[in-house]
Amino acid sequence: MPNIKTAKIRGINGEFFAPADKSISQRAVIIAALAKGRTRFDNFLDCADCRRAMAAFRQMGVDIRLEKKNRQAELYVQGKGLFGLSAPKKEMDIGNSGTTMRLVCGILAGQPFESKLSGDASLSKRPMKRVIEPLRSMGAVIKGRLKDGQEYPPLTIKGMPLQGISYNMPIKSAQVKSCVLLAGLLAEGRTEVLEMVKTRDHTERMLKAFQADIRIKGRRVCVRGKKELCAPRRLFIPGDMSSCAFFIIAAALAPKSRLRIKNAGLNPTRIALLSILKRMGVEVNVIKNKNSLESFEPYADISVKSSRLKAVTLTENDVAYCIDELPILCVAACFAEGTTRILGAAELRVKETDRIHAMVTNLKKAGADIRNVRNDLIIKGTGALHGTTVDSFGDHRTAMSMAVAGLMAEGEMVIRNTECVNKSFPEFMNIMRSIIN
Ligand code: S3P
Repeated sequence: MPNIKTAKIRGINGEFFAPADKSISQRAVIIAALAKGRTRFDNFLDCADCRRAMAAFRQMGVDIRLEKKNRQAELYVQGKGLFGLSAPKKEMDIGNSGTTMRLVCGILAGQPFESKLSGDASLSKRPMKRVIEPLRSMGAVIKGRLKDGQEYPPLTIKGMPLQGISYNMPIKSAQVKSCVLLAGLLAEGRTEVLEMVKTRDHTERMLKAFQADIRIKGRRVCVRGKKELCAPRRLFIPGDMSSCAFFIIAAALAPKSRLRIKNAGLNPTRIALLSILKRMGVEVNVIKNKNSLESFEPYADISVKSSRLKAVTLTENDVAYCIDELPILCVAACFAEGTTRILGAAELRVKETDRIHAMVTNLKKAGADIRNVRNDLIIKGTGALHGTTVDSFGDHRTAMSMAVAGLMAEGEMVIRNTECVNKSFPEFMNIMRSIIN
């Protein structure tokens, strides 16, 4: 998939099953590998990041099988128990996956062997001190590549007996929280994490499903270590709201559109996008179904229609709740009446690329009135974009956001370097082709 080309459409119509959630799929591999017994996951996301997670645990002796059925995948993991992993024979290449690297780090810190984690050029530039620091205070011995006071991959991890800690998280990050909680499973005593805002809670939900000793009170999560996890027989992984976002916004922006997305994940920590879009005037609705809302990860169908959008201001806290949807929200803002402000989005600078730079560069090239002041984004809705050639900057969400921008633009939009879409949403173009008119 070297280039994606898109041009103005008349509308979006139809329905499709939401692609499985990437965050939950990665946790499925990681947590099931640590459990006693076999787990089957229905609707697993077969994407590049999840394949890296599977490969890493296979290197540590875990039996993992992926079966494709029509367009869905089933995952079978035969867990090894908390301390049953084998020492990998060579370094584990985590590719582009920040979530896998940061979560796996917490597990390796407490194993009785030494290991090395490396990544591609982008992951090698992503900060790891955020996980290394709390792990060190639990007794971990981790060495990263030092540069300007930050630590980067590759990471060498010498497994140690860990001690539980009480950690006041200085950043808003589900990856850091998950890393500390996973290390806490292996540690002596209790490990407690206190967050500034409640970030996505997929780790906590999955640990509960595996009968971990975990307690959650508001923004405080506590696990007791050294209690084996017990594999539930079967879990269903719902759709990924961050992937749905591209099509929800495309349908809202395109005229004469009516779209239904089936089995979209509705975890309360992942649906800020829906309320933001409602604030922007988008006609988006959840079609409630009691059974699916009671699942370990709730889900339901979503419907969306063409809408007239108005600008919105997103505060730093809003930003934490829709961090992965910000690139596509920038596209929506170009078509909203008024000036949209996205404030305090510094975390976007340390994703797969600097997403502030990527989106400002690309959308400006397409004629948008967008600028950034420090870590804020200011976008004046002009209601029009034109086709041009842009780059993904190696980032899947930038690539897909610009593809959607192209569906609304006059002339042809060419997005270069789009292999990265496979990181989270290999079916993106197929789904797009099936619903556009
Ligand atoms: C993720 C958490 C978020 C998100 C990333 C996936 C996760 O990162 O941006 O795509 O699965 O925990 P941070 O926790 O670093 O904000």
